[in-house]
Amino acid sequence: MTVKLKPRLAGVASLVPSGTVVADIGTDHAYLPVHLVQEKACPRVIAVEKSPLNSRLAQETVNLFNLTHKVEVRVGDGLLALDEKDGVEIVVIAGLGGKTVCRMLIAAANKLRSYKRLVLQPMGDVPLVRRWLAAHGFCFARERLVQEKENYYEIIAVEKGRQIVKEPIFLEIGPALLRERDPLLIPWLKHKLEHYEKVMQGLLRSRNGKEDPRWRYFNFQYDRLKGVLEDVCRGE
Ligand SMILES: C[S@@+](CC[C@H](N)C(=O)[O-])C[C@H]1O[C@@H](n2cnc3c(N)ncnc32)[C@H](O)[C@@H]1O
Repeated sequence: MTVKLKPRLAGVASLVPSGTVVADIGTDHAYLPVHLVQEKACPRVIAVEKSPLNSRLAQETVNLFNLTHKVEVRVGDGLLALDEKDGVEIVVIAGLGGKTVCRMLIAAANKLRSYKRLVLQPMGDVPLVRRWLAAHGFCFARERLVQEKENYYEIIAVEKGRQIVKEPIFLEIGPALLRERDPLLIPWLKHKLEHYEKVMQGLLRSRNGKEDPRWRYFNFQYDRLKGVLEDVCRGE
């Protein structure tokens, strides 16, 4: 019996190198750890969960797939639940808000450099997460876009290294998404532009209209986003 992941988690799994020791922070149902052992030859996965109830659900999944010798469910708070002795190489944080991801990274900032790779899939505030990573000695090794119905998800794999972010728009778009010309890059940029248009139209209807600093900010970002889309379409 194998576990079948939805596209979002399958995308996360695709950025985890095969055969590595992994910690899945905020594992919930522990489907990802089971998949990593079954499909990516991961010898050991620590499935960290803050909620005792969800950790019980995670343990049930692990028991169901007879993987108690390879997947350890651990109740704890973020990366603080990990110990050097665990020998974790890859840390995954998926499905949590960007601010929560940043808080977890900040809380464990002194241990982060001991990991080979962090695979992050924040639900929102992704530029904030990229900004923190770039400012703290991580470079964007790989990034991927995944679509589930009308939602797009950004998955970021960072490693130790220097990252130059030429201008703020590349915190929003993702340097590796651009570099690797992700197959979903063009539809995703168009989707983002549509979202900006809706937000700007809403702001225009408000009292301050174009004088609203948020409208000016969105207008600026919109123009840059459009410029990047045109460059990508021209193959630059
Ligand atoms: C929305 S679920 C995401 C589950 C899975 N990672 C995914 O991507 O589908 C978030 C999980 O993270 C857990 N969580 C929230 N804060 C946490 C923390 N500080 N440490 C560990 N787990 C946490 C929650 O209890 C919940 O089970």
